[in-house]
Amino acid sequence: MTRSIERTVAVGEDTERVDGRAKVAGRAPYAYEHAVERPLYAHPIQATIAAGRVRDMVTERALALEGVQAVLTPDNAPRLRTGQDAELEILQDSGVAFRGQLIGCVVADTPEIARHAADLVEVDYERAEHDVAFPRERSGLYRPDVVNPSYETDTDDGDVGTALASAEVRLDAEYRTARNHNNPLEPHTTVAVWDADGLTLHDSTQGVHSMRSVVAGLFDLEESQIRVLAPYVGGGFGSKGTAHAHVVLAALAAKRMAGRPVKLALTRQQMFTLTGYRTPTVQRIALGADRDGRIDALVVDVEEQTSRIKEFAEQTGVPSRTMYAAPNRRTSHRLAALDVPVPSWMRAPGVCPGMFGPEVAMDELAERCGLDPIELRLRNEPERDPETGKPYSSRNLAECLRVGARRFGWENRPAAPRQTRKGEWWIGTGVASSTYPVHHSPGSAARIERGTDGRYHVSIGAVDIGTGAWTVLGQIAADALGVPAEDVVVTVGDTNLPFASVAGGSSGTANWGSAVVAAAQGFRARFGDDDPPAGSEHTEAAPENPDTERFAMHAFGAQFAEVHVSADTGEIRVPRLLGVFAAGRIVNPRLGRSQFLGGMTMGLSMALHEDGVMDERLGMVVNHDLAEYHVATNADVPSVAAEWLDEHDPHVNAMGTKGIGEIGIVGTAAAIANAAYHATGVRVRELPVTADRFL
Ligand code: MOS
Repeated sequence: MTRSIERTVAVGEDTERVDGRAKVAGRAPYAYEHAVERPLYAHPIQATIAAGRVRDMVTERALALEGVQAVLTPDNAPRLRTGQDAELEILQDSGVAFRGQLIGCVVADTPEIARHAADLVEVDYERAEHDVAFPRERSGLYRPDVVNPSYETDTDDGDVGTALASAEVRLDAEYRTARNHNNPLEPHTTVAVWDADGLTLHDSTQGVHSMRSVVAGLFDLEESQIRVLAPYVGGGFGSKGTAHAHVVLAALAAKRMAGRPVKLALTRQQMFTLTGYRTPTVQRIALGADRDGRIDALVVDVEEQTSRIKEFAEQTGVPSRTMYAAPNRRTSHRLAALDVPVPSWMRAPGVCPGMFGPEVAMDELAERCGLDPIELRLRNEPERDPETGKPYSSRNLAECLRVGARRFGWENRPAAPRQTRKGEWWIGTGVASSTYPVHHSPGSAARIERGTDGRYHVSIGAVDIGTGAWTVLGQIAADALGVPAEDVVVTVGDTNLPFASVAGGSSGTANWGSAVVAAAQGFRARFGDDDPPAGSEHTEAAPENPDTERFAMHAFGAQFAEVHVSADTGEIRVPRLLGVFAAGRIVNPRLGRSQFLGGMTMGLSMALHEDGVMDERLGMVVNHDLAEYHVATNADVPSVAAEWLDEHDPHVNAMGTKGIGEIGIVGTAAAIANAAYHATGVRVRELPVTADRFL
């Protein structure tokens, strides 16, 4: 059993990130920039129909171009082991399952030649009717076996029908969230090198070990024949958390060009099709309560989309299973399988869209009960996790709401909407709750070695996608070893290092930190505390934590927004956002704040801007670039502030951390929609909240 870190000197310090200066100064080699001998460049060929098959690809004109080395097509591409994952098994048959799917690539001496040549390949299609329309009538939906990653699809507790029928106050409404696209600053890139020993991938990924195992399966290699490196990654938001088809394309091209490294960088437009996205959702929500606001019945029925070839079921109904005390609860998920790209993880999958509808519904219920929305939430605080009946390892939602209300200046707020106007602007404020589960993935391990330089070298195959993981692992190691932080050197991002779980589910610090603490404690037990000789080395995996079975573990937070809506134009501004979080111990305040602020800014972006617009005739998202798919910029967030409670949770792990990468995006959009209602009296139940709704 792990002992927790008691002596925290480095943990809690506000330090710069160890990789920060190299990243901003251009000295950090990202995957695509990795220097290789005589590289070739691949450019994808993408289907221009949404359903059907490729009858023929005429490649002569492309091949005739000087500098073109090869054109890969379904006819000549190396074979993969198929039957596992249709998103990844590209160029193995002639089928087209969505517009933009990879059907080939050009390999050339420069990226420009490859791109030009890709346009010269003539593709003859056999078209089929495509179906990309969402939402759709209920008869076109099916029930998945589980929702991401392995939650029950439907739950039914108590007697919802009877409870709703006898409720003194009822609410029944439909909420919608838009199709959202992951847009990390660094595009998805891969450098693939195939030689006699196997395959090396320099890849912009959130998990080197998980990437290795997927690629090994597809190419029928031993894991020992593959090395994946990702020391520097410029964001992912989930889109680099699982392997996508472009990685396979780069590896196929490198195999074909054996001996020559192949570089592939997706364009921003290609990312909208090939790297996952968040499904649009329809959420039918019913609440039944007594006049005092105590919720007796809760229904969340979710509809969303997936691709025809691979299922991804966003777990949108899941947060409502645990959020508030309601003895009678029903949740369900139904999917439309469409001729669309494969949806996947995007920051706080399920939880983020799944806290929009319910948290706006809470605002509506508060009004019907004549209660302040904070008071309504306090009255529905559960004693134990409603879903499992387990005690919470810690749950400080109420304190987040109270502290946030004080800091934000909630007490002067008029109860009724449409009360405050300054010049052209209607002014309102809103609140919503945040939550995110504490995920544990087993198996991460770390190695600690005393170097000849006298320093302690900590190695783990973790990936720092811009979160600061690299830095905080050094802080954790320093305290666990009982040495100053400057005596610790951390190395990450390589499958040659001990196994590490993926940088996803806000679980990196928890999983990897647990491994680092275990390795440090093992190291000290073996070599003593006092100046162990150079070369002393110890590797250990994170232990199992039996408390994960005994407790429900979640982080919580409260989000407050001030919204101004122009009476003349409907323009919406958010001059103030405040988040107060209870997420266990914050290892580094500077980096922690950055995670919260980034999440909240992305939540504002979801609230006001982000909307992938599907052209149903073409079967494609037409605003597939940052000129037309708007993300929040500095001017959108004049003031965004994050604070946190000093929460001590002895159960979650040795460090007491809960995970902070995702909770910041959860609830923000609902707080903004609620504030827009408070400003104007217009209730918007569909994202994004746009100017036209207020005119
Ligand atoms: Mo996050 S969407 O789990 O990388």
